[in-house]
Amino acid sequence: MLPSRQEIQERKYGYQQTLANQLVTAVLILDNHLNICYLNPAAEALLIKSMYKLYGNHFDLIFAKTSINETRLQQLLTTGQEFTDSDIVIQFNQEHRFTAEITASIIEFERIPHVLLEFKQIDQQKQISLEVFQQQQWIAARDLIKGLAHEIKNPLGGLRGAAQLLSKELNEEQQEYTAMIIEQADRLTNLVDRLLGPNQLPQIQKHNIHSVLEKVYQVVSYSNEQNVQLRRDYDPSIPSIECDQEKVQQAVLNIVNNAVQAIGENNTITLKTRIASNKNINGQRIKLAVQISIIDDGPGIPTKIQDTLFYPMVSGRSNGTGLGLSIAQTLVNQHHGKLSCHSQPGHTEFIILLPLKQ
Ligand SMILES: Nc1ncnc2c1ncn2[C@@H]1O[C@H](COP(=O)(O)OP(=O)(O)OP(=O)(O)O)[C@@H](O)[C@H]1O
Ligand SMILES: [Mg+2]
Repeated sequence: MLPSRQEIQERKYGYQQTLANQLVTAVLILDNHLNICYLNPAAEALLIKSMYKLYGNHFDLIFAKTSINETRLQQLLTTGQEFTDSDIVIQFNQEHRFTAEITASIIEFERIPHVLLEFKQIDQQKQISLEVFQQQQWIAARDLIKGLAHEIKNPLGGLRGAAQLLSKELNEEQQEYTAMIIEQADRLTNLVDRLLGPNQLPQIQKHNIHSVLEKVYQVVSYSNEQNVQLRRDYDPSIPSIECDQEKVQQAVLNIVNNAVQAIGENNTITLKTRIASNKNINGQRIKLAVQISIIDDGPGIPTKIQDTLFYPMVSGRSNGTGLGLSIAQTLVNQHHGKLSCHSQPGHTEFIILLPLKQ
């Protein structure tokens, strides 16, 4: 039997309520006095303020110093003429700031016109397209270098072999020259192998992420000539994750080594773990991930290499090959994760996100 009109109406309200709660778009409603009267959960998350905290406050609390002003909203209430403004910067304090595109329109609630404000966070979109672009560039640079390395590797083997054969024909004094050829060929082979990057598929097993990090901690502590302080800030509730422990260890070690090389004696490196939710990894929304942060309070990444930091052969050190981070990126990618970095003098943070299967 078909449901009655009343039942359909009730279901409709039910769906609408669920919809508002599930929407990814942040939505805010102002009453006809321009006071905040509703926020959906996405808006609470975006503004990092609950509805209880904001209810009844004048809209200015959020939109002060933006183009969303009283005159325009009053005009909207009287004429119904909706508008969209992009690049609105909302700033509560130094840390909490974002750019959004906001559409203002009218909705009627209990026969009274209200203002509906829909937020589209732009910095997130900009960030995602920048990440996708950088990832493509990184793949292009890596493939080019891999191709080149491959071409160098083959004749290098022949060169070494020939020098070895030749050395058998030579007297001791002359063998010095062939020894030098062999030594330099070995050095180049090492470099070429690093250029080729990790070539084995990951051996995925369940591991406790902290035991993986403890290995890095030990390696760095043992070879800690500079006396850097190494701190741990772990979230012990993180469940085991499926990963190749050697590879994750290598990735973290490459990042920690860079920090050790960049900082001085009184600086600190922190290994931090947290659970992260709703993260974007290569254009995909991941519900739950393990977040490993490697933080140091050193001088920060030189500005001129910040945009190309993960590309192979980009180095800020005179004796660096610029491969450590590119290799770390490959290793993290093999786990379908993401490696990113924020850096300013006094605070450099590398973040590895590894998706957590539920
Ligand atoms: N924590 C950090 N603080 C300051 N600069 C950093 C930090 N981590 C990386 N860098 C900069 O990034 C550059 C690239 O690092 P990457 O590990 O890819 O190469 P590298 O350390 O120069 O050489 P390699 O690791 O191959 O020996 C470094 O040369 C350094 O200038
Ligand atoms: Mg390095």
